Amino acid sequence: MSGFSASWLDLREPVDAASRNAELSAALQVWRRPFKRLSVLDLGCGTGANFRFLAPLLGGEQHWRLVDHDPILLAHGARRLRRWAAARAMQTTLAERGLAFESANDRYQLEPLALDLVGDWDLPDRRSPTLLTASALLDLVSEPWLERLAARCRQWEAAVFIALSYDGAVVWEPVLAGDERVRERLNRHQRTDKGFGPALGPAAPATLAILLRQLGYRVMLRPSPWRLGPEHGRIQTALLDGWSEIARQFGLEPTDWLPEWTHRRRRLIERRMSRLYVGHWDVFACPCGIAGPVSIPQPAVE
Ligand SMILES: C[S@@+](CC[C@H](N)C(=O)[O-])C[C@H]1O[C@@H](n2cnc3c(N)ncnc32)[C@H](O)[C@@H]1O
Repeated sequence: MSGFSASWLDLREPVDAASRNAELSAALQVWRRPFKRLSVLDLGCGTGANFRFLAPLLGGEQHWRLVDHDPILLAHGARRLRRWAAARAMQTTLAERGLAFESANDRYQLEPLALDLVGDWDLPDRRSPTLLTASALLDLVSEPWLERLAARCRQWEAAVFIALSYDGAVVWEPVLAGDERVRERLNRHQRTDKGFGPALGPAAPATLAILLRQLGYRVMLRPSPWRLGPEHGRIQTALLDGWSEIARQFGLEPTDWLPEWTHRRRRLIERRMSRLYVGHWDVFACPCGIAGPVSIPQPAVE
């Protein structure tokens, strides 16, 4: 349905966790301290990787609404989350609208929501979150969509934590002729419509930071790149396959060089001689100090 398989999300989860920006994770922990109970809204949650990383970091009492339009990923996520809680010796109970995981110090209540975020979406209960979060989602959305989201966060007075947004940088080692042509096609594909309007692709993290800044947020934008080594052969191969296919489809010129490029890259990965850098950014924006009536600047008309 969404084009994101649970097996792909499983493959990237440990790499994402290791790549997240430590300074921003620490800033989020500090921001969390004054709140007794957090209400978190996770957009494009997939199987719940963002929850699995952030919930233990934030600790205490939390209510999560996990939103995705793909019911298969949500179902896979429910099983995955139960296993995750069991591995942490947390007690699982059925809660009002989902699951609750409990340990001596922490209680996480989870509410999965099958919701399409395209267009004029709304939350069934309309309760404002304290924290709006997402991971590996932002490159899919368009600028008008992001403007609406930023304005909504401002109205909620919610903090914003958006992790692992792709920035267009792809660097293979060793370098091969063809790398740049593949990267250029990939980034052209990034800007195509994924349902939200023309996608921001690599421009998304900086655009979000600027939008939130204009709304009075205190914004931190920090790198969280994937640095894949020879031990990450499976994910390198998955990326190679995906990008080769995109390059084949998005070439304006002939792609007779592409099979040879793909073959040589595959051989390097198999021989454990390949390294790959993929640029990402994390954004943490705090409405700290925003007070008084909400005023949302209108986007400039070009
Ligand atoms: C790259 S995955 C990231 C999943 C998860 N956040 C993670 O870090 O593993 C992007 C997610 O966005 C979801 N998504 C894409 N378009 C959506 C839409 N229109 N409405 C809701 N979710 C959407 C996909 O189903 C997928 O789970």
